[in-house]
Amino acid sequence: MKKILSVVGARPNFMKIAPIAKELKNYKNIEHLIVHTGQHYDSKMSDAFFNDLEIPTPDFFLGVGSGSHAEQTANIMIKFEKVLLETKPDLVLVVGDVNSTLACSITAIKLGIKVAHVESGLRSYDNEMPEEINRLVTDAISNYYFITEKSGLENLINENKNKSKLYLVGNTMIDTLVSNLDKALSFNYLSIIEENLIIKKELLELDEFVLVTLHRPSNVDEKEQLTMLFKFLSDYSNKYKFIVPIHPRTFSNLKKYNLIEELDLENNKNIYLLEPLSYLRFLNLMANSLFVVTDSGGIQEETTYLKKTCITLRTTTERPITTEIGSNILVSPTKENIYNLFNKDINSLITNPQIPELWDGKASERICKIINKLI
Ligand code: UD1
Repeated sequence: MKKILSVVGARPNFMKIAPIAKELKNYKNIEHLIVHTGQHYDSKMSDAFFNDLEIPTPDFFLGVGSGSHAEQTANIMIKFEKVLLETKPDLVLVVGDVNSTLACSITAIKLGIKVAHVESGLRSYDNEMPEEINRLVTDAISNYYFITEKSGLENLINENKNKSKLYLVGNTMIDTLVSNLDKALSFNYLSIIEENLIIKKELLELDEFVLVTLHRPSNVDEKEQLTMLFKFLSDYSNKYKFIVPIHPRTFSNLKKYNLIEELDLENNKNIYLLEPLSYLRFLNLMANSLFVVTDSGGIQEETTYLKKTCITLRTTTERPITTEIGSNILVSPTKENIYNLFNKDINSLITNPQIPELWDGKASERICKIINKLI
């Protein structure tokens, strides 16, 4: 019996591991264990995803919680090492680019345990993003590379990785989207919005809305940038209705800088702040929105699959396929750029968007087949 140990820690990890966990159940020769580091711990940031995606309860919960990057990474490493010594897996599977990905891949490699990285090779070439450091380090030491788009393959080849260890397999997050879309669409979007409002408001004729998510440190940590972004929503709220599910980091900064009062968000009838949403509810709103505004990584890919226009408020993207052939528009988030763009007809900017190669709902099948041969 072979043993694989998969790591999840933060919200974007859950939808990447879910279809792999499901697929691995078909392999009777493989025991699959799941470790949750507890990087995200609020029920709305974690449990809600386990429920929606029917991910098995983790075998180990490390409960590390928040902290500085060094504290969080170090705590995960100390606790994960104990799990590895106890379980002695044949392979550790890490996904994405969060601190848990970095911490667990370093810990495993140093114990001589092989590491496979799912969603490897993505590069923003911006070392100020914590995720870029996590991607670079994880890929520097991984043994096997599962890749979502051709830029990832090119980047890893340019970094002189052994070509026989590189596998362009598609996108497991899209597997999750494909298998959950019908279920997600069975909800009523108005009920989702109503049930998750942070500030209770009447929903006046909400037939069209723009879905907004902002959580990246470069957009929400400094007062000036966060104020500019929410002032922009306020300025354009006579043209659009904005639905804004709020990440805990963003919400605590909105309160810290007193922006809810300053911008009178409580009384703005066209800006609705929501609690973080579960996977299915968020997918529903994405599919039903007029278009999406975000600084997330994964949402650029999900909107590309849905062929929904996505305005990404960042200077770079590590997922260039979404702007090259998909429905993503990258906008460096200065006031001038954003206001200029929003004075145009947004939904006429993208014509004939395409879904990237191998984003077909079968990436996990391919990954598990390969892993079964490797271990
Ligand atoms: C992390 C990932 C980021 C990913 C994002 C998705 C890293 C470096 N960043 O960023 O790539 O896009 O998750 O959400 O790994 N908090 C809570 N409850 C929680 C989790 C966090 O209140 O369940 C608050 C805490 O105040 C914490 C802050 O959010 O300090 C940030 O959490 P953290 O895990 O450090 O990073 P994210 O910004 O969530």
